[in-house]
Amino acid sequence: MRYWLVMPAAGTGRRFGTGLPKQYASLEGRTVIEWALAPFLADPRCVHAVVAVAPGDPHWGKVAARLAAAAATAGAPKVTSVTGGEERARSVRLGLAALEARAAPDDWVVVHDAARPCLAAADLDRLLASLSRHALGGLLASPVRDTLKRAHAVEDAPVVSETLERSGLWRALTPQMFRYRALCAALDAAHAAGRLPGDEAQALEWRGERPLLVEGTATNLKITSADDLTLAAAILRARQRP
Ligand code: CTP
Ligand code: MG
Repeated sequence: MRYWLVMPAAGTGRRFGTGLPKQYASLEGRTVIEWALAPFLADPRCVHAVVAVAPGDPHWGKVAARLAAAAATAGAPKVTSVTGGEERARSVRLGLAALEARAAPDDWVVVHDAARPCLAAADLDRLLASLSRHALGGLLASPVRDTLKRAHAVEDAPVVSETLERSGLWRALTPQMFRYRALCAALDAAHAAGRLPGDEAQALEWRGERPLLVEGTATNLKITSADDLTLAAAILRARQRP
C-alpha cells in the first residue's frame, strides 16, 4: 500500500493569536509542522508529501531546508510545497492539484493538518490497515466522552438550551484518507455549489458517501490556542520516555 500526503498549512492561526502562525511555533526543539510531518517522513508507504503554504509564507523555506538536509541521509519521501487558498478546503484542493500528473484515480491520499503535531505512528498504522480494502476511505475520530450542551446567549452570557445525546457522536480528527479522484471530485462539487466543507469527509458525505470512522487516540490534538502547545509538549515528552 502506498499513499500521497497533502498537508494544509496555509492558515494564519487567528485563534492562536501570535504574529507567528501556529504551525511554525516551536515545540520540543522543532516546529509544530515538523512534528506533524514526522510520522509520514518515517513511513515508507508515503510516496511524496505536498504542503500547502500561505502566499509569500516567509517561514516555510527554513523548514523545507531542514527537511531536505535530513532526507538526504534517511531516504525519506520528498516534500514539496504549493500555495494554499483562502480556506482549508481550497488549500487541500490546491495540494491535490499538484499531484494531478502523478496520482492514479484510485490512489490513496492522506490529508493531515499541519497543526496536529501529536499523531502517533500506531494511529496512522490503524487508519491505513482499516482502510486497505475500503472503496472510499475514512478518517481518524474519537468518540465524544463529555456531556455536550447547546447554548444560546442571554444578556451576552452563554446559557444552556439543551443537553445533546452523546451516543453516536465522534470528534473528527486528521489524518483523513480517500481515493484521489473521489476526493478531488467531492471538493470540486462542494466548491461549485458554494459550500465549504469542514473537512474532507464532509465533502464526500455531501455526495451521499459514508466515510469509515477509525478510532484514534484523543492525544492527536489540534493546536488551536497557545495552551494547546503546553499539552502537546507533555504528550510528546511522555512518548519519548523509555
Ligand atoms: N489551513 C490551510 N488553509 C487555510 C486555513 C487553514 O491550509 N486557508 C490549515 C491550517 O494551517 C491548519 C489546518 O488547516 O494546519 C487546520 O486549520 P485551523 O486549525 O483552523 O488553522 P487556522 O485556520 O490557521 O487557525 P484559525 O482558524 O484559528 O485562524
Ligand atoms: Mg481555521
